[in-house]
Amino acid sequence: MPSDIKDPELASSGRLRIAWAEREMPVLRMIRERFTRERPLEGIRIAACLHVTTETANLIYTLAAGGAKIRLCASNPLSTQDDVAAALAEDGIDVFAIRGEDRETYYRHIHQCLEGKPQITMDDGADLVSTVHRERPELAVDILGGTEETTTGVIRLRSMAREGVLKYPIIAVNDAMTKHLFDNRFGTGQSTIDGILRATNILLAGKTFVVCGYGSCGRGLALRARGMGAHVIVTEVSPLRALEAVMEGYQVMPSIEAARVGDLFVTVTGNRDVLRKEHFAVMKDGAILANSGHFNVEIDIPALEEMAVAKRTVRPHVEEYLLPDGRRLYLLAEGRLVNLAAAEGHPAAVMDMSFANQALCVEYLVREGANLEKQVYPVPAEIDQQVARLKLASMNISIDELTPEQRRYLESWESGT
Ligand code: ADE
Repeated sequence: MPSDIKDPELASSGRLRIAWAEREMPVLRMIRERFTRERPLEGIRIAACLHVTTETANLIYTLAAGGAKIRLCASNPLSTQDDVAAALAEDGIDVFAIRGEDRETYYRHIHQCLEGKPQITMDDGADLVSTVHRERPELAVDILGGTEETTTGVIRLRSMAREGVLKYPIIAVNDAMTKHLFDNRFGTGQSTIDGILRATNILLAGKTFVVCGYGSCGRGLALRARGMGAHVIVTEVSPLRALEAVMEGYQVMPSIEAARVGDLFVTVTGNRDVLRKEHFAVMKDGAILANSGHFNVEIDIPALEEMAVAKRTVRPHVEEYLLPDGRRLYLLAEGRLVNLAAAEGHPAAVMDMSFANQALCVEYLVREGANLEKQVYPVPAEIDQQVARLKLASMNISIDELTPEQRRYLESWESGT
């Protein structure tokens, strides 16, 4: 929603939901309190390309409390929560996002975000950074640095750094332990199942659930699908990950074999054409297809469109494709991130840690960005540790400390006894 469109009723619903999410974001709340006192981002211009959700709103308010001037656009055309956009707009944030925007609008909004001449970019999938590099390279001179939220974005940015074309430093927030071990695993696991169930209302118990890709997202998804009573099959290209899946007790097989037996398929690989014509050709009548990877390229939708003789929407977010032999395949959420398109994305309790990393990394970039190379950097270990410590404290959980003897033992190399 471009911020000139005001809708008080929508904004008021968004405000309540943002406050609901905030209850589960104690770490971000603590950071916001400190930012309010210290104003470490005073006058800093930020362009953020993120899923416009209640959790993101809490991040935006935190950055604004630190003194930043923020422009926000969506990192996916189908993930924007319009009530959240309306609430942010009412609070004076420049928001350029509306749910269901087409490709042209999506990129126009990215450009509008860049019109603010950012000093910091915050990205989820690297569309913002790649637009700067392809179409607005002159903006890069003023950019101190950027953050990247997701695996797919980090892969794209590392490839830019490798080719020597990256014009400013990036911090790979995704790679922080307190991000990917929780957000990618428990967040994707739960929210993907949530999206599938909201879209279909099917019973998972007893279904054959195929997870394509066993990275940290696939791992979480497989775990939760098994917890709901599904029989889980994993497909992989990495022998190591495949072996891990086997030892976790999942059935592992090539995707063409899984295609014949699966009731439900979810792609979480970060790669394209994971499910394609040869798979659609052998799937069972009624098979359901969904994607939880960042881009809508994992299921070859053009091939499905070409094979189908008819197509209709049978429920919100459920498209039925009728094949010439009478089989019907069901595609969820147009093959876009099912957890954000058909549900509300990851729960606030995990986004708390992801976005605490984001806020602290922005603060770090404001302080240190000018001294960094044009490379992709890990999140500083102190930030990762601090987020873990604060999260535990917010849960009232304390842990042990090493005794001086234990510390000495770990530091010495002379004798094991
Ligand atoms: N990515 C996944 N879930 C999300 C959420 N709830 N908010 C923002 N980005 C997300």
